[in-house]
Amino acid sequence: MSLDTTSHKVPVARNTADLRAAVAAWRAEGSTVALVPTMGALHEGHLSLVDLVRTKADRVVVSIFVNPTQFAPHEDFSAYPRTEAADAAKLEGKADLIFAPDAADMYPEGFSTTISLTGVTEPLEGQFRPTHFAGVATVVAKLILRAMPDIAIFGEKDWQQLMVIRRMVADLDIPVEILGGPIMREADGLAMSSRNVYLTPAERKAAGKLNVILKETAASVSSGRIISDATRDGAEKILALGFDKLDYLEIRDAASLAAFPDDRPTSPARILVAAKIGRTRLIDNMPV
Ligand code: PAJ
Repeated sequence: MSLDTTSHKVPVARNTADLRAAVAAWRAEGSTVALVPTMGALHEGHLSLVDLVRTKADRVVVSIFVNPTQFAPHEDFSAYPRTEAADAAKLEGKADLIFAPDAADMYPEGFSTTISLTGVTEPLEGQFRPTHFAGVATVVAKLILRAMPDIAIFGEKDWQQLMVIRRMVADLDIPVEILGGPIMREADGLAMSSRNVYLTPAERKAAGKLNVILKETAASVSSGRIISDATRDGAEKILALGFDKLDYLEIRDAASLAAFPDDRPTSPARILVAAKIGRTRLIDNMPV
């Protein structure tokens, strides 16, 4: 095994052989293993997942891979922040291994397989990023099959992504437990995101109000208002804050993400939003 231990205190594996050798050594000593998939630019949201899953498994692998196939051509793949040295420092004392393959290792020439789901991938993000979840599902399946962890953890910040991964793992009989971790927020409630670094100071201020409107809209539906009225008002408020475009503000079944035909929640519900301000697209969600 040739783990790169020279530059960082947490060892870094760059290919499947090195990752599997490390995991096999842990298995041999009877340890359980968790995987935290990320695209790096780590913040407290990512680190909370590492801390949470540490309480459930003996060894924690954090993968860092900015996955090209989940970005559309017009999206921010090349601008996406890449901060591997800082990420490694943040993981010191928290992770046992960083798995950071390059694109040629993940997608060698001739790569031809895509995992695409129907249903849960179709509304919301699926309407605005039609190829996104196929990219996510395929890379997450690959990361899980490479590491073969007992547990993989994902944030509720990307609620629809978490539902897509749960569906895929169930449908394909992938032997891993999927855990969800709560959304970490800034002091004003803005959901932490690697993309928040794109915000100008004025945009950052408006962005902090998005979660407040979500909370108000959810509360008004909980106290009896019909969904269409509440979300129409919420949408107006979001645009009034200075957001340039609202992709969606919807209240859906929390697991299937299906709409409620009666305009009222009849099962556990979630409010989900995606809105653009300047060059930044923000998403957030919470229970209703
Ligand atoms: P990334 O955006 O880097 O997020 C990695 C994980 O951190 C995801 O599970 C995400 O939901 C979680 N996360 C992000 N912000 C969070 C917050 N504020 N609170 C709690 N958890 C948060 O999501 C991806 O990467 C990719 O799609 C990936 C799953 C790695 C596949 O490429």
